[in-house]
Amino acid sequence: TTRQKMPSDIAAMKGQAPIVCLTAYTTPMARMMDAEVDVVLVGDSVGMVLHGLPSTLGVTMEMMILHGQAVARGLAQACLVIDMPFGSYEESPAQAFRNAARLMAETGAGAVKLEGGQHMAETIAFLVARGIPVMAHIGLTPQSVNVFGGYKVQGRGDDGARLVRDAQAVAKAGAFAVVLEKVPASLADRITAEIAIPTVGIGASAGCDGQVLVVDDMLGLFTAFKPKFVKRFGNLGEAGAAAIAAYAAEVRARSFPAPEHVFADEVKK
Ligand code: KIV
Ligand code: NA
Repeated sequence: TTRQKMPSDIAAMKGQAPIVCLTAYTTPMARMMDAEVDVVLVGDSVGMVLHGLPSTLGVTMEMMILHGQAVARGLAQACLVIDMPFGSYEESPAQAFRNAARLMAETGAGAVKLEGGQHMAETIAFLVARGIPVMAHIGLTPQSVNVFGGYKVQGRGDDGARLVRDAQAVAKAGAFAVVLEKVPASLADRITAEIAIPTVGIGASAGCDGQVLVVDDMLGLFTAFKPKFVKRFGNLGEAGAAAIAAYAAEVRARSFPAPEHVFADEVKK
């Protein structure tokens, strides 16, 4: 058996092998992917994907801890990273440490992820110096949707220099990896070449050091909308709807349960 991967193992993959990352929010989904992926992220996307929230802003520490604990029970090999929810880290390095330590202690996650570049560098350094590995997340950072005015591509044209500075700042602060979300492919390639830590792309470039997707998106389970960067590797939503329709029809026809699903009054000898 293999030991569970640590953030330092993920950092060491840069230039060696692509880093495979997916989100998970539940034990069975974590079990399903544990042997296939390098990093499992308990993303705050859980709020939109599983709880029907309109954005990630309403996600709480309690939600992250509950889902983090569930995912941890399903993992033996993959590195577990947990998102810091909106409002749990932005105020100060001390606030970030208090909540990051709680997330790690209560879930067993090996690292936290937080959104922000240059302006979060001080906080990232503060956490890393105190024992908390940090995955950074720059580009389209969904917790800032109200500042961005939508889920827009970030870093086009002259704005690319800002994202290069963000990437350099989080790398220098000690982040072990950085998610690049919804940025031009050429910019993602440039950042990947210029920084010493792995880039993990989502809507970025095949040239990134790794890729991440929301598992319900790639399985076709979340169908409320589909960003351009999502590839559906499966259609579980359609399969689920068909199965539910078949169940409903069989109940109405009294053909379910069948004899093999029911119990006799006497135990067979
Ligand atoms: O919350 C999330 O799922 C994420 C990934 C898409 C990177 O932050
Ligand atoms: Na997230």
